[in-house]
Formats: sequence, structure tokens, C-alpha cells
Amino acid sequence: LDSSGLCSSQITGANTGIGKETAKELAARGARVILACRNVTKGEQAASDIMKNVDGANVVVRQLDLADTKSICLFAENIYNTEKSLHFLINNAAVAICPYAKTVDGYEMQFGVNHLGHFFLTFLLLDLLKHSAPSRVINLSSAAHAMGKIRFDDLNGEKDYHPVRAYAQSKLANVLFSRELAKKTEGFGVMVFSVDPGVVNTEITRPIRRPLVDLIKTFSFVLKTPAEGAYTTVYCTVTPDNQVLTGGFYKDCALAASCRAAEDNLTSLKLWAVSCHLLGIRWR
Ligand SMILES: NC(=O)c1ccc[n+]([C@@H]2O[C@H](COP(=O)([O-])OP(=O)(O)OC[C@H]3O[C@@H](n4cnc5c(N)ncnc54)[C@H](OP(=O)(O)O)[C@@H]3O)[C@@H](O)[C@H]2O)c1
Repeated sequence: LDSSGLCSSQITGANTGIGKETAKELAARGARVILACRNVTKGEQAASDIMKNVDGANVVVRQLDLADTKSICLFAENIYNTEKSLHFLINNAAVAICPYAKTVDGYEMQFGVNHLGHFFLTFLLLDLLKHSAPSRVINLSSAAHAMGKIRFDDLNGEKDYHPVRAYAQSKLANVLFSRELAKKTEGFGVMVFSVDPGVVNTEITRPIRRPLVDLIKTFSFVLKTPAEGAYTTVYCTVTPDNQVLTGGFYKDCALAASCRAAEDNLTSLKLWAVSCHLLGIRWR
């Protein structure tokens, strides 16, 4: 809470899917919510939907393209200039299973947006989170992390790219980053979680070929709705400190086991060092 008693949260990729439902739920609980969206028009549409559904919702939209480090810097500068506090940083945005593409800075798109973009954003906002403590960082991962391997010899997928493998690598990176960040923020009042939201009926299937998407949607009755997909993120946001474990991997609103590769301390340290090197930052 800041001096006015307001809790502040910021959600990336909040214009649709799980991010939008998370924003709606936190706004309904009285938080100020910043929708960090690459497309401001879509963000404004989501904000207006939320305001129609939640009386007195305190929701604002800010432009953020996680595929562009300049945009991330400008976004963070804007947050420092306009917000007194930040209690929850929810790193939710992702691009999934797309054809080979690169970010503005030349990183493979899924590794660049899902991991590096959020890593850099968190680095820039950590002082504000510490200043606002108790605070939390929640990183959206996926069950797909268990199929992942951090391919340090080809992080950019230049030698050999496979869309599913690149997605799994980025989601494994989300869990490794969360565990390492939790160690580094211990004693600062900042808790960190990674979340598997389950299999959720959202727009995440966009880059996948049409017949396969239609097949998946035929079984939509077994998929979670976006609102259900937001449950575990909301759980990690609002559950009291003494009932959750910093660094933990959460699924179905409970602590869960991540895969063995996600628990490898050498890999998480190496990923941290390589991410700093790629971004040209010092973060110990
Ligand atoms: N849906 C599932 O079954 C499932 C399963 C496991 C894990 N997850 C994870 O849950 C999270 C939310 O997924 P979702 O299903 O809600 O996906 P979604 O409906 O596709 O939403 C993804 C969001 O990320 C945004 N985004 C993509 N690239 C961006 C960029 N460069 N900069 C800023 N924002 C960007 C999108 O913006 P635009 O609208 O402008 O594209 C959109 O708002 C993701 O981290 C995903 O990996 C989802």
C-alpha cells in the first residue's frame, strides 16, 4: 500500500487473455492496475471493458513493446515519473510457437520477448519494487517448461530453430529466472513466483496453423476460460506472505514441482550472467 492506501500492480500483455482477466480481478479488489501493452488501442479497449465491468476501476494503459529494449527503457522511465509505488509486477505477456523472427535488438523473438524482455523490465523496476515492499514479481511460465532446454550454444536459434522448442526454452527460462531472482531479493521484502496457468482458451494459438487451431478449439470445453486461467496468478498476488514460498512454482493455486532442469542452480546462474551480458547490464 502507498500512503493513500492504494495497492499498485502492473501487468504485461494485459489487453487480452489471462493478463486482461488478471487485471479485471485485481481492479475489482481495489488495486490501481497498469495495463502494459504493445498496442495502445487494444489496451484502451481492454481498459474500457474492465471499467464497464468493475465499478470505480482504477486502470491505466501504458505502451510497452517487450521486443524492443528502447521501448522497455521508456516505459520504465514513465513508470518512475508517474507512479509513487509498485507492489506487483506481473510478467504475463508472451509470444508462442511463432515462425522464426527477431526482436528489434536481434534476439530470437520467443527468447527475446518472453525471457529477456521481462528480465530487463524487472531489472529496471526492481528499485521501485524494493521501495514499495512488501511487493512481488510473478512470472508466467507454462507446463511446456518441462520440455525445455537452455541451449547456450544457440540461444538465438540461428543454427537450428524449432518453434515449440524455442517456446519451451523461454518458459524454462521464466522458472530459472524466478528462482534466481527470489534468492537475490531475499531480505528486501520482494517475493517472486513462477506460474503455470494451465491450458487456457486464449489468443495464444494465433501463430499456429489454422486447421490445428480449429481442432484444439473443438475441445474448448476441456480448456480453462481466461478467467480460470488467471486464478493462480491472482492467488500468487493476494495470498498472505506466510502462506506462499518465494521462488516457488505454482499451479492450480498451489505450490507444484517444476522440472529438474528448472532446479539446476548452475543453469540459473549461467542464464542470469548470459542475460546480463546480452543486455549490457550489471545485475548481481
Ligand atoms: N493460454 C495457455 O494455454 C497458456 C498455457 C501456459 C502458459 N501460458 C502463459 O500465460 C501467459 C498469457 O498467455 P495468454 O494465453 O493470455 O496469451 P495471449 O492471449 O496470446 O496474450 C498474450 C499477450 O502478450 C502480448 N504480447 C506479445 N508480444 C508482446 C510484446 N512484444 N510486447 C508486449 N506485449 C506482447 C500480446 O499483445 P498483442 O495482443 O498486442 O499481441 C497479448 O496481450 C503467457 O506468458 C503464456 O506463455 C498460457
